[in-house]
Amino acid sequence: MTTVSFPERVLHKRWRISIGIANCGNWEALRRRIAVWLVSGQNLIGSKEERITHMLERDPYLRAENRKVPSHRFSVAPMMACTDRHCRYFHRLLSRQALLYTEMLHAQAVVHGKAEQLLAFNEAERPLALQLGGSDPRSLGEAARIGVEAGYNEINLNAGCPSPRVRKCNFGAVLMTMPDVAGDCMEAILENAAGASVSVKCRIGVDNQDPNQALPRFVETVASRGVDRVIVHARKALLSGLSPKQNHNVPPLDHGLVVRLKQQFPHLAICINGGITDLEQVGKLLDQGLDGVMVGRTAYNRPLAILPGVDEQVFGVPRQFSIERIIEEMCTYALRQEARGIPIRQVSRHMSGLFAGWPHARNWRRVVSDPGIPGEGGVDAIREAAKRCLDGSQTEPRAVAIGMA
Ligand SMILES: Cc1cc2nc3c(=O)[nH]c(=O)nc-3n(C[C@H](O)[C@H](O)[C@H](O)COP(=O)(O)O)c2cc1C
Repeated sequence: MTTVSFPERVLHKRWRISIGIANCGNWEALRRRIAVWLVSGQNLIGSKEERITHMLERDPYLRAENRKVPSHRFSVAPMMACTDRHCRYFHRLLSRQALLYTEMLHAQAVVHGKAEQLLAFNEAERPLALQLGGSDPRSLGEAARIGVEAGYNEINLNAGCPSPRVRKCNFGAVLMTMPDVAGDCMEAILENAAGASVSVKCRIGVDNQDPNQALPRFVETVASRGVDRVIVHARKALLSGLSPKQNHNVPPLDHGLVVRLKQQFPHLAICINGGITDLEQVGKLLDQGLDGVMVGRTAYNRPLAILPGVDEQVFGVPRQFSIERIIEEMCTYALRQEARGIPIRQVSRHMSGLFAGWPHARNWRRVVSDPGIPGEGGVDAIREAAKRCLDGSQTEPRAVAIGMA
């Protein structure tokens, strides 16, 4: 599977190791992984080939690279208060290939806050993108550097958040009106994110901008600074008059505009986001030439409607799927987190949409929102609630519900 092409010397405080580098098509990413492993003190001494093969096999990002299907072909959108590390762990059990995003983190929080805590993730979550908010190129550059060092596969800039607080601080969707500032920010990120992918997530426009002009202008400006991937939430943001929630629903979607954007900028990777609810729609959008599809609320609120079919239908990677096994893995994970002081509900709440539309779904939601008892008793309550849903469902609709029939 892997050929070792040339050796690289890696220095460490206590020892010097000569290690082979796999010909995996992404030298930078692999080199960075090795460095991160060393920093975290993991012992890399051993057979070179064995180590590298092991690394490639357990790292979905590198495996996806080997297959030449970029992970951004399907991604789960960044969502504040939703896509934290526990949610991403759950989503990763449902799709091994999808690219996952963090919630937006302000660059200043990463630079001046507890970066280690804010950026912590489980290796299993990769391929993983860190979304940054901000409009100060220096702090964004510094935050990007910290993110890459922490092991994120991608750094993304938020140019689509419409919240009044964000707008007041001059970042998020308001950057659509300041493409040059967005360009400066992206340039700073690119300079500091060697080895990781870099992207920007934007809207088609804001307020009274004409999206037919504002979007290409924005994309052209950031592309001129080196950006080669843009994710477009295909609706405007109205910065006054609508709440953040309304801004995810009220302004009409224009998928056609994003398809035309790809035709205008064929050399850029253009990913589409907004209102996508099933894999048929995903397939149609990819067939129209788009490079990737990002899904937010459907993945969170009705994960079985979309995520289990992604690996096979989008990435062409067949896989076995069992709801029972996923629940069991989440219970084990929740107990591990609890041992670190994190209440079970902080993990289990992200599973509340798992049985959306099934019999006993309401009971399931109630239990996972707060299992009530800590420890084994808590996860037993979750197991029991899942069993009620699974037992209450007929075999056939169940297969249809998970898109695997
Ligand atoms: C609860 C919630 C939180 C969100 N937080 C973020 C965020 O942190 N960063 C971001 O770029 N977009 C955020 N969004 C927007 C989503 O990423 C996505 O663009 C939007 O929901 C449209 O996609 P969908 O129709 O597939 O949900 C959020 C959306 C929701 C519903």
